[in-house]
Amino acid sequence: MSHKVYLPADAGMIEYIGAVRGFTAELEKRKGSAPRVFVQTFGCQQNEADSERLAGTAVAMGYLLTDDPQFADLIIVNTCAVREHAEKRTLSIIGQYKHIKEKNPDLVIAVCGCMVGQAHRRDELKMRYPYVDITFPPGTIQIFPKMLAERLAGGRRSFAVPEECPEIVEEIPVHRESSYRAWVSVMYGCNNFCTYCIVPYVRGRERSRRPEAIEKEVLELIKSGARDITLLGQNVNSYGKNSEFDCSFAELLDRLACLEGDFKLHFMTSHPKDATRELIDVIAKRDKVAKQLHLPLQSGSDRILSAMNRHYTLEQYMGKLDYFREKLPDASVTSDIIVGFPGETEEDFEATLEALRRARYDRIFSFIYSPRKGTPAAEMDGQIPDDVKNERFSRLVALQNEISLEKNQALLGKALRVLCDGVSKNDPDMLEGRTEQDKIVIFKGDAAMTGQFVEIVVTRVETFNLYGEIKK
Ligand code: 5AD
Ligand code: SF4
Repeated sequence: MSHKVYLPADAGMIEYIGAVRGFTAELEKRKGSAPRVFVQTFGCQQNEADSERLAGTAVAMGYLLTDDPQFADLIIVNTCAVREHAEKRTLSIIGQYKHIKEKNPDLVIAVCGCMVGQAHRRDELKMRYPYVDITFPPGTIQIFPKMLAERLAGGRRSFAVPEECPEIVEEIPVHRESSYRAWVSVMYGCNNFCTYCIVPYVRGRERSRRPEAIEKEVLELIKSGARDITLLGQNVNSYGKNSEFDCSFAELLDRLACLEGDFKLHFMTSHPKDATRELIDVIAKRDKVAKQLHLPLQSGSDRILSAMNRHYTLEQYMGKLDYFREKLPDASVTSDIIVGFPGETEEDFEATLEALRRARYDRIFSFIYSPRKGTPAAEMDGQIPDDVKNERFSRLVALQNEISLEKNQALLGKALRVLCDGVSKNDPDMLEGRTEQDKIVIFKGDAAMTGQFVEIVVTRVETFNLYGEIKK
């Protein structure tokens, strides 16, 4: 566990962190122990990264971290809105926190992230979840101390809206979960408006961090022992667009890959329409860039791609993939696929299956289309019944599982460099780690290797996992 906390550059934020410190000190005196914060995260890596800043900010405000909400004096729920299922689950969990508040009236419940970027969810929390104290949407962490300080001072419940913080604030305190795997957001928001997606509405317009600020953070991470650094953005390929500096994502990646140290750079997500040859060339040229690409196709049908507002055809996508494979034949490629988009016919779906056979991804993240209120696709004709969506989803997964297994079989007998994550979640006698291609490897060894690179020879493979032995 790393407990690194940076001081925020933003003066307003520092002032309110100080104000909350006054309340936490008083609470500590009254209760005889320091107040605790429980941070719960749903959704994507961007949320994981945001939660590390929320935890860091809470620590700076005088809270100790806890894994158990029952003992918390502050609960922060960082939510996802990409699919309805995630929202429903989150709301039911928030519902259970009511009982904790009944036992501990000092408890403050804060809800943040994409779900509360939507007006109808804010209203729902306001009306039907009276024990929720404050909500703030993604990209507004800087106002969290102010909102909390005001609530602790006896102020009313408050519900911030996405427009409140258009600026990027650097050096918000951070508490990193891992000392050797780190997230670094390079940009926030999305301008693409894919017709199914809620993200542009809740995360706002694209804003890129200055390259110097990113380099400084990456340098500090390398110095503190980070081995695996993932650069994050909703569409990293539009990094630097509409900003006052002149630096593309390929240039940023190249610059970071030239830093000294034993580390690998990963990044996600690349929008196929903006993935350039220049970017692929940097991945091929630089040892420190992991040989891996996440390039979401979403659908193999041009008709559906157009209805999704994706701005590429299957052939354009495959052209980029062919160039990538030509330059990096051993790299892994992963994708996101949505089944059951409105109007998707059996023929469209079969085009997606055919695309999987052609692309031969190492792995896909497959999603059943979920209508999101306020997005164009939710209003489209031809919504697909659940049974059809489910049946297509099963066929998609079955096909990809075959391909993933075949791709893994090709790794039998190979020696792979694995970053060890410690004792395996599924087997306490084994260790687990990930390759540069982001494949999970399970092997026997000493837990002291956690956070180090080890060479593993692959001896057995499954659809999702590789098994191996430390190379002698
Ligand atoms: N329904 C299903 N999947 C979705 N995604 C985004 N919005 C939706 C939705 N409304 C998927 C896309 C995206 C991934 C992060 O989530 O595939 O790439
Ligand atoms: Fe959503 Fe499309 Fe933006 Fe990705 S690129 S976050 S799918 S709108």
